[in-house]
Amino acid sequence: MVSRIPVSSQQGLHPRLEQTVLHHWRSSWQQPIRAHSQQAFDQIAPLAERASALVLDAGCGVGESTTHLARRHPDALVIGVDKSMHRLARARDLPDNARVVRAELSDFWRLARQAGWQLREHTLYYPNPWPKPGHLCRRWHGHPVFPDLLALGGRLELRTNFKLYALEFSRAVELTQSMRAEVVSFHAVDPISPFERKYSLSGHSLYRVIVNLH
Ligand SMILES: C[S@@+](CC[C@H](N)C(=O)[O-])C[C@H]1O[C@@H](n2cnc3c(N)ncnc32)[C@H](O)[C@@H]1O
Repeated sequence: MVSRIPVSSQQGLHPRLEQTVLHHWRSSWQQPIRAHSQQAFDQIAPLAERASALVLDAGCGVGESTTHLARRHPDALVIGVDKSMHRLARARDLPDNARVVRAELSDFWRLARQAGWQLREHTLYYPNPWPKPGHLCRRWHGHPVFPDLLALGGRLELRTNFKLYALEFSRAVELTQSMRAEVVSFHAVDPISPFERKYSLSGHSLYRVIVNLH
């Protein structure tokens, strides 16, 4: 099925992007952790403690990208996190070093930070775009959890078909990390996930931002 490129009435970076990102950067977000996210974290945490390296596939959907990452990092534990039970139920034949868990990312990132996790690689493949200007705070860089996401370190990669998302994400990284975060347009020769495949087949331009966090 042909899919549509996100359409937004927003022209350019959101006018409140900098203010929002910096406000979250200077505050600590206190929303209570949901019980099911805590439970999912508690189940995976002992395995993570024993792992020699950690890779997090945030919003992993049906786990196809989690499988790719696990094959690319055979010495690491690769954890796919998604809130959708329905999608996770379709994650099958995962490699031995991969797990998928059902949790809210905004909880899981905070728990991982509190536990002192440092990731080797952290992927955000095709997060929901939230194209309406009023939804800035639902885009991960405009969300209060953004500082926790960044604190997990490692090689962080965002992929999206919504160019504004990539541009804003890059700006938010630059604002908080004082480093350049280039937005690169790319062609997915061998799609890593169902959404990447769907967007490629629909002829969308794809964008990525890669940053090495310390
Ligand atoms: C557009 S899909 C992309 C899925 C997959 N990464 C891919 O590329 O095929 C976005 C995914 O993020 C998940 N998601 C969205 N918001 C989330 C949240 N707050 N916590 C956990 N998962 C979330 C959705 O359930 C969905 O599977």
